[in-house]
Amino acid sequence: MTGSASMAAAPMLLSQSGQSTAAQPPPDVTDKPDVFLTVNGQPYRIALDVRTTLLDALRDHIGLTGTKKGCDHGQCGACTVLVDGKRVLSCLSFAIMHPDAKVTTIEGLASGTGNLHPLQQAFVDHDAFQCGYCTPGQIMSAVGCIREGHAESDDDIREYMSGNLCRCAAYPNIVAAIRQARTETGKA
Ligand code: FES
Ligand code: FES
Repeated sequence: MTGSASMAAAPMLLSQSGQSTAAQPPPDVTDKPDVFLTVNGQPYRIALDVRTTLLDALRDHIGLTGTKKGCDHGQCGACTVLVDGKRVLSCLSFAIMHPDAKVTTIEGLASGTGNLHPLQQAFVDHDAFQCGYCTPGQIMSAVGCIREGHAESDDDIREYMSGNLCRCAAYPNIVAAIRQARTETGKA
């Protein structure tokens, strides 16, 4: 092998003075920074890949599996949680985006004394689920829907809950449950 061929095989950087220096390795992209989250009033610090979604952080790292993964593409609503009181699709949001936010999941909805939230009770009263897979997302979305003032009529409820799909088609019961919770509380 000639000397010039051997130089081509080993990439080198040139300093400003023109002297060759060894190429530096790229930064370690697997480094996991600490991510801060407050979920259901509990603070967490977790070492996470920055690409981790809020949904995966909740389920796989914190262990709150009440929030469900349906499509993982923002199309079914099963992953809905509240972030600072507003409904968010957690599969479309990175955990690292919410260091100062208050995240609420279905596990944090009932009162500390164990009483069901009015929407949880209304879902039971109206038999508003069959398999139950969509139910946590339906309930969290319904909390946001009522808070937004978008549950004034059945048509309103159907429109503003249209991002939450139910494969069991429990839609009439879901609308009835949301109507009950809205009527009982005036808000959620
Ligand atoms: Fe997030 Fe379907 S899992 S919208
Ligand atoms: Fe089965 Fe909604 S209750 S998907």
